[in-house]
Amino acid sequence: MKRELAAAARDLAAYIKTLDENLAEFPRGEAAPQPKIAAAVHAAENPLPAPSSSAGPEAPDMASLSETVKNCRKCPLGYARLNAVFGVGSDTARVVFVGEGPGFQEDHQGEPFVGRSGQLLDKILETVLGLKRSDVYIANIVKCHPMKNPETPEAHGNDRPPTPEEISACRPYLDEQLRAIKPACIVTLGSVATKVLLGMDKGISVMRGQWYDYPVELFGPGHPIKVLPTYHPAALLRNPNLKRDTWEDMKMLKSFLENGKIA
Ligand code: URA
Repeated sequence: MKRELAAAARDLAAYIKTLDENLAEFPRGEAAPQPKIAAAVHAAENPLPAPSSSAGPEAPDMASLSETVKNCRKCPLGYARLNAVFGVGSDTARVVFVGEGPGFQEDHQGEPFVGRSGQLLDKILETVLGLKRSDVYIANIVKCHPMKNPETPEAHGNDRPPTPEEISACRPYLDEQLRAIKPACIVTLGSVATKVLLGMDKGISVMRGQWYDYPVELFGPGHPIKVLPTYHPAALLRNPNLKRDTWEDMKMLKSFLENGKIA
């Protein structure tokens, strides 16, 4: 027991050191404004459209879904983006990480979590879980960059949270991705993703560190995808004190992935 505790303390210290090195590279950002996430954006009130004939009752095809998203103009974000940011990682991943929406770097590169938050997410995956981004799947609630001024996609500091309308328009794509991947669990990164996916209007500090059932039964009754909310990596960049809680959350995830059940 003593040895286990000592090992856990060593793990935590190594994780904090790695993240500290990473955090030191980045100046602390401004606190992001929190959008009002209306209950209406919850999937239960926004069911998936009937599957298209190509999708049928089977799992959707990720390549054609990605193509659909690339050409999507269901909301104004589709007219301002440089690139749609569909998702990245393994199409058979057991865990899907879900963020809020692409920022400047993601819009330019067409890949989620490639900016400062993404680099930190990669470090967390590697240090606590021993995983690479290609071992998991990473996606966002909205697939295009929400900009304060859509006419200046080249400007920095142009990010804003997605509106409820943008979330509603994009929401079904994530469920289609989940139907294709069939993950055992989802990790929601931050309060926007958590509120949208769980339909609960509580802050992330209250929601994190506990398992929930995804309310949309994508695989029939009795087969819920488990959902674990944790802090958004951007929150760790602003407040390094949150990294310990994030470590606890990632340990819960590790245990679930190793044992196939909640400890
Ligand atoms: N923040 C997000 O929520 N998603 C990204 O892809 C990048 C930053």
